[in-house]
Amino acid sequence: MRFSEKVVVITGAAGGVGQALVLLFAGEGAKIFLSDRDEAGCEAIAAKARNLGSEVEYLAGDLRNKEYCEAIVSTAVDRFGQLDIVLNNAGIIPRGTIEETTDDMWFDAMGVNLNAVFYICRAAIPHMKGRPGAAIVNTSSVWGVYPGPGHVAYCTSKGAVAALSKNLGRDCAPLGIRVNAVCPHEINTPMIRTGFERRGLDPDKAVEELNKSVPLGRIAEPEDIADVIAFLASNEARYIAGETLEVTGAKPVSG
Ligand SMILES: NC(=O)c1ccc[n+]([C@@H]2O[C@H](COP(=O)([O-])OP(=O)(O)OC[C@H]3O[C@@H](n4cnc5c(N)ncnc54)[C@H](O)[C@@H]3O)[C@@H](O)[C@H]2O)c1
Repeated sequence: MRFSEKVVVITGAAGGVGQALVLLFAGEGAKIFLSDRDEAGCEAIAAKARNLGSEVEYLAGDLRNKEYCEAIVSTAVDRFGQLDIVLNNAGIIPRGTIEETTDDMWFDAMGVNLNAVFYICRAAIPHMKGRPGAAIVNTSSVWGVYPGPGHVAYCTSKGAVAALSKNLGRDCAPLGIRVNAVCPHEINTPMIRTGFERRGLDPDKAVEELNKSVPLGRIAEPEDIADVIAFLASNEARYIAGETLEVTGAKPVSG
């Protein structure tokens, strides 16, 4: 029970990695505050976490909206009286080269992937200062550190999340808050599967094909990434701050 009595905010909680995070933290004693724009998805995963004995609340909304980002933090603190851990997991992946990237694609990527992380961290840090075990884990991507082809808005936003996490890792360490980022390669979630569907491919067959490109033999499952995020949020990572941890199954970025 690494997170007993800890209050944890999780964004993107109705998504692939988000659901795995909610179940993991619920199973380890955390009180959880969920965020996602998918309200039915929040309710469904909240019910599963409550079945594991966890206290769970949620606020559905759009992370492109600053007031919603700030309300996630203030409502979590109102409901639970404290805040210990923030997991900025939500993300979107607009696909395209610079010539294919519209203003909306660019600003949506920055809004969800970067600005929301800034707003939530800025609102959360005053509540977390000096709390034992305070930690923030942001989700970047290995494509933020080594950009893959044809995803300029996504890669730029994720590169900025990596830089923001290193900055906060430095500045928040004296406040007793560890800030790190996880940089996954491909994960078997709706984010990647809907991309295959849009291109007219069968997602199961496409994932099978993609598995062959990974030295460890398969792309990540959501639980593989949730375990790393939980490690970074836990006392086992008490001396790790300002890091961007690549989780790739030894697959380099190519193409
Ligand atoms: N799947 C991958 O291959 C992969 C690889 C590297 C990094 N990542 C990152 O991992 C994180 C989790 O991704 P996932 O694969 O679970 O994706 P997912 O699409 O399954 O889940 C993302 C969740 O974010 C929510 N969301 C999206 N836009 C939102 C908005 N405007 N307001 C509120 N909520 C919003 C969605 O409703 C969804 O539930 C993301 O940050 C993603 O960029 C994913």
